Amino acid sequence: MSIFVCFVVLAFLSTSSGIKYKDNDKVILYVNKVGPYFNPHETYHYYQLPVCRPKKIEHKSLTLGEVLDGDRMALSEYDIRFTRDSDKKELCKVTFTEQDLQLLRDAIEDLYYFEFVIDEIPVRGFIGHLEEGGFLPHNHKVFLWAHLNFNIEYNGNQVIYANVTTKEQAPVSLDGVTAPYEVVFTYSVKWMKTNMAYDDRAKRVRDNSFFPKTLEIHWLSIINSMVLVFLLIGFVVIILTRVLKSDFARYNVDDEESDDIDQEDNGWKIIHSDVFRFPSFKSLFTAILGVGSQFLALATGIMVMAVLGMFNVHHHGSINSAGVILYAFTSGIAGYVAANMYKVLGGDNWVWNLNLTSCLFAAPFFMVWAFVNSVAWGYGTTQALPWQTVVLLMCLWGFVGYPLTIIGGIFGKNWATGFDAPCRTKNFPREVPSVPWYRSSFAHCVVGGFLPFSAISVELYYIFATLWGREQYTLYGILFIVYGILISVTGCISIALTYFQLSAEDYRWWWRSIFSAGSTGCFVFLYAMFYYFKRSNMSGALQTIEFFGYTFLTCYVFFLMLGTVSFFASLNFVRYIYVNLKMD
Ligand SMILES: *[C@@H]1O[C@H](CO)[C@@H](O)[C@H](O)[C@H]1NC(C)=O
Repeated sequence: MSIFVCFVVLAFLSTSSGIKYKDNDKVILYVNKVGPYFNPHETYHYYQLPVCRPKKIEHKSLTLGEVLDGDRMALSEYDIRFTRDSDKKELCKVTFTEQDLQLLRDAIEDLYYFEFVIDEIPVRGFIGHLEEGGFLPHNHKVFLWAHLNFNIEYNGNQVIYANVTTKEQAPVSLDGVTAPYEVVFTYSVKWMKTNMAYDDRAKRVRDNSFFPKTLEIHWLSIINSMVLVFLLIGFVVIILTRVLKSDFARYNVDDEESDDIDQEDNGWKIIHSDVFRFPSFKSLFTAILGVGSQFLALATGIMVMAVLGMFNVHHHGSINSAGVILYAFTSGIAGYVAANMYKVLGGDNWVWNLNLTSCLFAAPFFMVWAFVNSVAWGYGTTQALPWQTVVLLMCLWGFVGYPLTIIGGIFGKNWATGFDAPCRTKNFPREVPSVPWYRSSFAHCVVGGFLPFSAISVELYYIFATLWGREQYTLYGILFIVYGILISVTGCISIALTYFQLSAEDYRWWWRSIFSAGSTGCFVFLYAMFYYFKRSNMSGALQTIEFFGYTFLTCYVFFLMLGTVSFFASLNFVRYIYVNLKMD
């Protein structure tokens, strides 16, 4: 199994040196998918439209990434010969039924585009053309492009670039025609010599995409986030110095004034015998930390791979499959951290703890995915995964992810040391004084979620536009910086909020620290709603369900990751200040 997985990994990491053709060799054109231009995640197989199709449809075997991206390539009847121009060749004649005509009209109304693949280059064009004319009387005409013209650039014996244009011949009008209606589909091919090297072709393909251009650099937002980070770090440094100063002041008995200056600061010292009282629901608590750590490792790994340019720029599929595979292989981290923390906090039911850890993300993911996939399957789109892929993914979890969680957990449990708290915990908990509203957990969650969110809010637009739109994002370096900013802001705000909480003599910081910064996930979800309704043109039940289903999972991952960062930042801070507090 793992050998097979390694093959999959290698398959999408390997960069081939390309196919070499001889004169008059057949250049294979695969038909791939069709779908509404504004719904990137609603795609259907090309042969679901009434078009020319071979008697027997032969599919190309695809990589995991391509399948996850909704690709379903099949052979076509286009006969393209290397460097041979052809003027107007007939592909086939299709006789449309009334149903076919309606299907085509609807597709053209929805701005359907098609995608072919020539020598691994995606080639896209619109199915038809809408014409709105005249104000009064208003007329609305639907045309079908029955002639396609392929432009292919070559250098030596390799294909460098390809596109398709449709305007060469007048389109066929679909208005007022009745079935049976015969249309002749034709195509032409033009070959052009170019000096561009094969290695540069990815850039050539990217710069001449059918979809909107690559996104621009956005320095202002980066600077904005940076300023926020520096402010927050300054804030934390000020808190720490104040804590230390008042600590020194304790030894200076003559200095009576200093006591009332920092009356507020002394709250946290009073609760030293409660602050290390372990939280309730230890198993869930440590499972969150385990899965959160796993996703931190996963996100870092994917960013490093992206910065190193390991992904295919043509589609997101390669990132998806890297994510799936890395998730399985990083499961050991989740098991290790969860079991280790669980043991440290004195838990004893470690089998249950590990099962909870391995299901904490997998179960919600499976439920959302099963729902979305059933809907997609009902619609007959290519976004619905074929059963082979489903089996593969389940095996990946069952034979790699789950066992690694257990193995990691066994190591974590056996290597655990005691908690070694700087202060002794008393048997009976103190009473927690009531706090004003601005110190309630709700207020902390709003502040703790909003600041990290605001540090990445501008970036989020680009991420959403890339994942849910047609834009292409290639500035992984910037994304990596923003990721670092996000982690730092989360850590700082968590320390500050924990300090305020302890000052108010509230020692229940364990769970609070997870939720206060984990609430960033809620803000991301609110932003997603704004994006969906105001910034995108997505529509229809299928696309809506997919968008909100996967966005929910993304926000959940944000919660787990940032909650983990926040907890460990607070834990180190609390240890640090109480170690410095010399207890009698
Ligand atoms: C298609 O490619 C040809 C040849 O490289 C180029 O001249 C033409 O502008 C391209 N058309 C589009 C719409 O990109």
